[in-house]
Amino acid sequence: MSVEETYQQMKAKLGNVVPDFELQYKAELAYEINQLKKEKNAVILGHNYMEPALFYSIPDFTGDSLGLSRRAAETDKDIIVFCGVRCMAETAKILSPEKTVLLPAKVAGCSLAASITAEDVRQLKAQFPGVPVVTYVNTYADVKAECDICCTSSNAAAVVESLNVDTIIFIPDEYLAKNVARETGKHIIFPTDTNGQTDTELDYQFIGWHGKCEVHEKFTVEDIVNVRRQFPDVAVLAHPECSPEVVEASDFSGGTTSLVKFVEQTDKPHYLLLTECSMGDNIVAANPDKDMLRLCTVRCPHMNEITLEDTLNALKYNQYVIEVPEDIRAKAVQSVERMIAIG
Ligand code: 13P
Repeated sequence: MSVEETYQQMKAKLGNVVPDFELQYKAELAYEINQLKKEKNAVILGHNYMEPALFYSIPDFTGDSLGLSRRAAETDKDIIVFCGVRCMAETAKILSPEKTVLLPAKVAGCSLAASITAEDVRQLKAQFPGVPVVTYVNTYADVKAECDICCTSSNAAAVVESLNVDTIIFIPDEYLAKNVARETGKHIIFPTDTNGQTDTELDYQFIGWHGKCEVHEKFTVEDIVNVRRQFPDVAVLAHPECSPEVVEASDFSGGTTSLVKFVEQTDKPHYLLLTECSMGDNIVAANPDKDMLRLCTVRCPHMNEITLEDTLNALKYNQYVIEVPEDIRAKAVQSVERMIAIG
């Protein structure tokens, strides 16, 4: 495909979302990236939160963190370029250690992944011996290596139910843990609130951790009330990293791909999306007839680090290579593969 064809394809999708002069500039970048991708036998995975021009031009696969993990495990390409945050790229490396995994940003962190260390998990396991540990996939490899099974927002309840036990440690997202505890009919405690004075005779059911997503914690019930006052027929969709109060006040909650599907498969006069706001633009681009209300003061600074310019540099200069030490990877892969097996 030529630069002109790349531009025309992007214009057909994004003409109602991205100004034309920006599309022309980005089409040139996308063209170069797609050429290099072929030359280097690379696959590009793009998370649903990528900005529209990137999302609709260079990824071979787009999706949520579970879907992209599956793609990373299946690929026969030599290089995986992960357009998402570092912990997601690490998951790709854990699953495909023989591939070169590139993250087009030096850091692209995550407040959830930063909220807990492998030592924290070891201490929790010492405090609650024998209790299985479920970790949200937004954690680093050394934390995954200490856990029994990973989950994403789209399969968290199924993962919990698959364990078929009375008590689990669920880390590090406080809100996701509370939402899943409610969904699976369990109550939750936070050992960090008890000064270590936990009574092991109690039926704890869910043992949580106080990590939070710095994007989703910003949404409030008041935001929803205000929007409903102005647009009484709005459908409110919340990612389960939002607080339980926000999820409760919403009409639907789920992982990013299920939020996209909800909009595609329903016919509401307006939608309010309580998650990273680029995804709203991506939905509008694919569904121009849908009215997505904007709350675009809320962007993920880490996902935002991934740009077309840096993705081009990633392929040109083979940067930034994701490495996971083999002893950690060998342990972490078990919890990631158990997660992938659960739909
Ligand atoms: P999904 O697994 O729903 O794509 O969510 C990933 C994420 O990082 C949400 O903030």
